Amino acid sequence: MKNILDYETVALVDDDDAIEIIDQTLLPGKTEIIRLHTGKEIWDAIYLLQVRGAPAIGVTAGFGIYLLMKHSVAADFEEFMKELREKSDYLNSSRPTAVNLSWALKRMESHVTEFYQENFGFADAALAAAGSFAEVREKLISEMRAESERIKAEDVEVCRKIGEYGVELIGDGDGILTHCNAGQLATCKYGTATSPMYLAHEKGYKIKVYCDETRPLLQGARLTAYELHSAGIDTTLLCDNMSASLMKTGAINAIFVGCDRVAANGDAANKIGTSVVATVAKRYNVPFYVCAPTSTIDINTPTGDDINIEQRKPEEVTEMWYKERMAPEGVKVYNPAFDVTDNELIAGIVTEYGVLRAPYDKAIKELFEKYKK
Ligand code: MRU
Repeated sequence: MKNILDYETVALVDDDDAIEIIDQTLLPGKTEIIRLHTGKEIWDAIYLLQVRGAPAIGVTAGFGIYLLMKHSVAADFEEFMKELREKSDYLNSSRPTAVNLSWALKRMESHVTEFYQENFGFADAALAAAGSFAEVREKLISEMRAESERIKAEDVEVCRKIGEYGVELIGDGDGILTHCNAGQLATCKYGTATSPMYLAHEKGYKIKVYCDETRPLLQGARLTAYELHSAGIDTTLLCDNMSASLMKTGAINAIFVGCDRVAANGDAANKIGTSVVATVAKRYNVPFYVCAPTSTIDINTPTGDDINIEQRKPEEVTEMWYKERMAPEGVKVYNPAFDVTDNELIAGIVTEYGVLRAPYDKAIKELFEKYKK
């Protein structure tokens, strides 16, 4: 029988003009594969967390903008780019915190612009005059397809690399804690925070992983515990308020979490509750690692205070998952989807290029100068 890890998190089905995803809101009870065709369906799937996790959202956006431009009838390059930017802005409005969404959309736009300038820049006026922009358009669309597939393929490679660097921070027999889902379901393979765990397991290490259930949407219980348990890793589920008691006993040797946006100074936004874990980890001297592909590092956001934190509906806290509402009618609810962990609580940021250490502003600047010009 197929294991959850045998499914693709996000796939392009070109002959049906669709993106195929696992509807993650139904896991682990039901594995339903759905196809997204329209801009509205793609927007809703991201907003409703049917597809979620920063890298998976980026890959979906890349495929999404390609599909939305696939049947463009723009008459010239200017019109093509105007349409592309409008559709990108629409997809980009689905969730604000994970920078991979805007990163992927910008990458698609830049690729089209560069490809056009390199190949048609000079001949544009002549081509348009001859009524032959249709040929150019076909080439731009086919480039968009290739670039969106590259974003996906790179995600797999990058996650594997994060695993290779991260596994060096794990010892045989270690207890590891994670929060939310930064697993395969949040990426196209391996996950970010889970990649070191999968690699440790491959090496035969007897690790024990503790998953915070992650209120209010239970990504830890429904997704992380599900995928790690399905992989045969020793997995224990915790309510969110239990990890301090475990850290105090010495059962946790390291914490690995994912991330939605790392600011230029190393402050890191991740699922709500992450900063509580990091603060407690400092108290008990447990190293707290953030796993982040460089696509999640935003050098244009100076500090965590500048990160736009998504606020979600009160019902997620008061009634979702319960047979009956579990809070008094009319009570106020505070429901931010993410919080920011201060860089001083982070022992290392595990990227595809290695583990960054404090001071993070310097480490991030150097990394981008070296690899991301
Ligand atoms: O609201 P979600 O489920 O999209 O939040 C996901 C997280 O917070 C993940 O930890 C983060 O996106 C990293 S995924 C590799």
